[in-house]
Amino acid sequence: METVVTGGAGFIGSNLVDALLERGDRVAVIDNLSSGKRSNLDQALQAGAVLHATDIRDADELKEIFSAVRPEVVFHLAAQIDVRVSVEQPAADATVNVLGTIAVLEAARTAGARRVVNSSTGGGLYGEADLLPTPEGYEIKPLAPYGQGKLAGEGYCSLYTRLHGLSTVSLRYGNVYGPRQDIHGEAGVVAIFCGHLIEGRRPTVFGDGRQTRDWVEVSDVVRANLLAADTTLSGPVNIGNGSETSVLELLDALRDVGRGDHLAEPQFAPERPGEVRRSRLDVTRARRELGWEAQIGLRDGLRRILAGL
Ligand SMILES: NC(=O)c1ccc[n+]([C@@H]2O[C@H](COP(=O)([O-])OP(=O)(O)OC[C@H]3O[C@@H](n4cnc5c(N)ncnc54)[C@H](O)[C@@H]3O)[C@@H](O)[C@H]2O)c1
Repeated sequence: METVVTGGAGFIGSNLVDALLERGDRVAVIDNLSSGKRSNLDQALQAGAVLHATDIRDADELKEIFSAVRPEVVFHLAAQIDVRVSVEQPAADATVNVLGTIAVLEAARTAGARRVVNSSTGGGLYGEADLLPTPEGYEIKPLAPYGQGKLAGEGYCSLYTRLHGLSTVSLRYGNVYGPRQDIHGEAGVVAIFCGHLIEGRRPTVFGDGRQTRDWVEVSDVVRANLLAADTTLSGPVNIGNGSETSVLELLDALRDVGRGDHLAEPQFAPERPGEVRRSRLDVTRARRELGWEAQIGLRDGLRRILAGL
């Protein structure tokens, strides 16, 4: 099958590309390499994947690539993912996450794609939810432009289904972690803490460390994408572990699996704006309608990251 993966040089996208190649798909990656790395695709390019170093905001070029590739399924992961950048530059965030998503949908539609699997966010959309675990039907109250932009992207996906009959689904991820996440990055605290552990540096915890997240391992997220591509399910679907772990508990888990490396006591810094206090996703819909459930627990997931460092 012909597939397009936007954002395929990134953390989640490159793991998805590997899985698609493994099952025999022909994969075209569209990625402007702004945060993604060509090295994430080393194996994939050798295995026949093609990288188009294109910006998803370039609607004309996108259409040209899609009409040449004629993808059956489009996995849309390219995005501006930094919540703080979205707070500082909301319009720039929206050019990628809203206008870029429209350009991808338009290219998919005109090239006759069967299905678009869109990457969205759970924590970023539900904001400070009173109901935990939070189901898809819960009120949307983003705390940052990032979530607002992702909501608009989801809205355009549903619109393209109604208006043009293009089959779309939006997967709302929890906090994804796993191999290839940048240990020196700004986002992705699991990878950052793994980096602290192996480099013997002292971790920084923003706020009191009691804020919780629903951490989900990247191979589980990849499996959710593959399953979602094979259904006609539409609208939003939460993809998380369905459990809540605090940042301090994450540090404890890392100490447990840390191969004898010493993890220093954290230093605390002021809480950052736009970040939610608690996050836990209700994954009933994914279980019932995709047959999906997370399989990798936090400690096993941490071991997988450390094995690759
Ligand atoms: N990592 C998480 O915890 C998480 C949680 C919820 C949702 N998501 C969503 O999952 C998707 C993938 O995230 P990730 O964690 O792999 O991030 P990532 O930054 O590693 O991947 C995003 C990729 O998109 C590319 N990109 C950015 N702007 C682009 C543009 N204008 N044109 C073309 N390519 C562009 C980047 O170079 C990068 O390779 C995103 O849509 C993100 O919003 C991630």
